[in-house]
Amino acid sequence: MNPFLIQIPFFPEQASNFAFEMDLFYILLFALTGFFTVLIGVAAVYFLVKYRRRSQGEVPEQIEGHLKLEIAWTVIPFVISMFIFAWGAKLYYQMYTPPATDVLEIFVTGKQWMWRAQHPDGQREINELHVPLGRRVKLTMTSEDVIHSYYIPAFRTKTDVVPGRYTVSWFTPIKTGTYHLFCAEYCGTQHSGMIGKVTVMEVPDYQAWLRGVPREKSPAEAGEQLFTSLACVNCHLENSKGRGPSLLNLFGTEVKLANGATVKADETYLRESILNPGAKTVAGYANDMPTFQGLVTEEQVAMIIQYIKPIGPRQGEAAPATTPASAVPAPAEQGVGRPAPPQAAKPAAPQGEQPRQD
Ligand code: CUA
Repeated sequence: MNPFLIQIPFFPEQASNFAFEMDLFYILLFALTGFFTVLIGVAAVYFLVKYRRRSQGEVPEQIEGHLKLEIAWTVIPFVISMFIFAWGAKLYYQMYTPPATDVLEIFVTGKQWMWRAQHPDGQREINELHVPLGRRVKLTMTSEDVIHSYYIPAFRTKTDVVPGRYTVSWFTPIKTGTYHLFCAEYCGTQHSGMIGKVTVMEVPDYQAWLRGVPREKSPAEAGEQLFTSLACVNCHLENSKGRGPSLLNLFGTEVKLANGATVKADETYLRESILNPGAKTVAGYANDMPTFQGLVTEEQVAMIIQYIKPIGPRQGEAAPATTPASAVPAPAEQGVGRPAPPQAAKPAAPQGEQPRQD
């Protein structure tokens, strides 16, 4: 435990890696604001008294200004505000740049008025989130309807959850316990009821918890099944000879488009290509894929993406620019039929068959 944690009574507990620095930053802003409020207030009252008009006919003496004073009151606030900017930007960048490796990925959907979460091995929960202590956790989030915001005060993280796109949030829990989860964006009548609990558990407890939750198919397994049942597999052949581009080695690469532009094959691009295939047609292919808008839910789109991801280079690795036509086949042990399990996806060894909840 960090011995320097400042625990202020009206602050929530500091339960994530960001909490201490965030509080320090907040306290600095508060102290600076307080200091200058008092300084300016006292000076105003003092000058009011000192330079008051003493008689009806008094003509005040003209003061021409003071160069050193003016430089001081320009430079000092400039330095202070640049310091605030630099520190704030650094914190912001850290919080909104999830680590690329060694991270537990959980998928979150917001919906009027509940929060759903799905763990990498397929465990689902509603209005709750169980996370292991000391482990980096990345939330990939989207909404089925309107804008929500996933807010865990004890972690000092708050991220909008927006229909039509993915947003990410990440943190490392540093303290076991149960914390509040709120929706922090007004989203309709039951907005104030869109709340839940975040439980931080010791790693063995978390693994026991995972084993106790009825396990459904993992997102990648469910995605593979959808890939077949929605007939994606008929066009997206591994050998690049299909009507659609091959998806081998796709994720994380730069894709050349028909209009000459390139786009990074990330989650957002894959999602758009499933729901609005004509938006970014790949060079060398016709725009003849049907849209799957309305045929698949956001959760199903995420499942398909979870299936496609491991058959391409890992996020964060330097990926060579490649067009689908020149995409090299993946190593034999990583065929489309058998995606490599996502790293960090196995916090618990499966202990026998769990009852299915179908
Ligand atoms: Cu969801 Cu407010």
